[in-house]
Amino acid sequence: RVAGPSVLVLFGVTGDLSRKKLLPAIYDLANRGLLPPGFSLVGFARRDWENQDFRQVAYEAVKQHARTPFREEVWNHLSEGMHFVPGEFNDPGAFDALAMAVKELDETRGTGGNYAFYLSIPPKFFDVVVEQLQRSGLAERTNDSWRRVVIEKPFGHDLKSAQELNNVVHRVFPEESIFRIDHYLGKETVQNILALRFANTMYEPIWNRSYVDHVQITMAEDIGIGGRAGYYDGIGAARDVIQNHLLQLLALTAMEEPVDFSAESVRAEKAKILSSVRVPSDLSLASARGQYAAGWQGGVKVQGYLDEDGISPDSTTETYAAIKLEIDNRRWAGVPWYLRTGKRLSRRATEVAMIFQRAPHLPFEATATEELGQNALVFRVQPDEGITVRFGSKVPGPSMEVRDVNMDFAYGESFTESSPEAYERLILDVLIGDPPLFPRQEEVELSWKILDPIEEYWATIGQPDQYKSGGYGPKSSDRMMKRDGRAWRRI
Ligand code: BG6
Repeated sequence: RVAGPSVLVLFGVTGDLSRKKLLPAIYDLANRGLLPPGFSLVGFARRDWENQDFRQVAYEAVKQHARTPFREEVWNHLSEGMHFVPGEFNDPGAFDALAMAVKELDETRGTGGNYAFYLSIPPKFFDVVVEQLQRSGLAERTNDSWRRVVIEKPFGHDLKSAQELNNVVHRVFPEESIFRIDHYLGKETVQNILALRFANTMYEPIWNRSYVDHVQITMAEDIGIGGRAGYYDGIGAARDVIQNHLLQLLALTAMEEPVDFSAESVRAEKAKILSSVRVPSDLSLASARGQYAAGWQGGVKVQGYLDEDGISPDSTTETYAAIKLEIDNRRWAGVPWYLRTGKRLSRRATEVAMIFQRAPHLPFEATATEELGQNALVFRVQPDEGITVRFGSKVPGPSMEVRDVNMDFAYGESFTESSPEAYERLILDVLIGDPPLFPRQEEVELSWKILDPIEEYWATIGQPDQYKSGGYGPKSSDRMMKRDGRAWRRI
């Protein structure tokens, strides 16, 4: 899978995402030989830069964040195709200059009139940028060339704003040219959920309400909000990651087998599941939210959310969210799906854990099975990537004592191939024009339909519960599980 001749135009090239993820990923693709020979990268931003300045910034980003080793010849080759166009988003002259720059690349580097526009910018600018792309003729494709637009979340902050945002982009680009990034879908371990489920026979018979007691989807982070107060405050944990990453994990884990792996088939199954998700009617029993207070993390004293730069002292934004959902279909009826995410928790870990029902009868002495929990199959999404199966095993010795043990699959032990970074895979798919890993608008809207009533309920209760940085989240989240006779897995 190698991309064809093309130009990637990057808006928001001076931003964090660009420096930490996008530029390094492009270099890694070049290093793996997956970019076409004339591939060109055009940066556009409100900076008084020459090509040389852009190349220098990209060089530093690559040196610091690329996954693959630095190779001078790869870098030189890539940087020859890097250009910068300075300008404001509302300046028609700057977009005319951009149009000239890419046309020139078509002639000098053989990029064939194929352009991908990556909008790594706040959504409030989508309107003006998309309009300028149209006005300058940049959005207009010919019969033998393509135009694609890549957008990053947040895709709105509720259903209504998501629809408005979509209309803005749709005015100029048809749905098949829009690539919405949910970077979790670019992760190897996330794609592997589908491989485990649909390339094996062992798990399918137990993947349902007859065997599964409940499912826990956890995305725990040890970091705080860093310098992202402007984006995060007023948005909060649920809109930031449950609406997208966690509901996508739920969809992949719960969905039926797609007819094939085409974008249409995969997305159709995901949409079916998201349409069957039910939010419990009493959210006071089925949700919890928290906000990190000061505490210690990795031996360092850290401040609470309300003391972070740019956060108002009475902010009611949650940095931790837990919700219980149900899926109303034959496979999952009655099985609760618990989703939780939080910042400044004890450690970074994302996992999907299928927790199975207890054995209906144990022929062993009760005291001999004290440490026996429930069987579990855990997709370890990150950082310790792999899969764990937890089951009871006889403890060596004279008595029939049974204790839980883990059977682990670790990527590093089974594969010599290294995992590409999520953005590497996704940028490559954009350039190839391969859409299965990109959510379509329908999924975005269905996810907001799940989240909107939860956010509305939370808006009525004001301040989230405080939890200590470096801990396990608010007590209310543990209580939510306890009411159901369950407990969160230790992270
Ligand atoms: C982003 C969120 O989508 O995902 C961030 O906006 C979060 O708040 C990040 O930190 C986590 O990504 P990853 O790949 O490190 O789990």
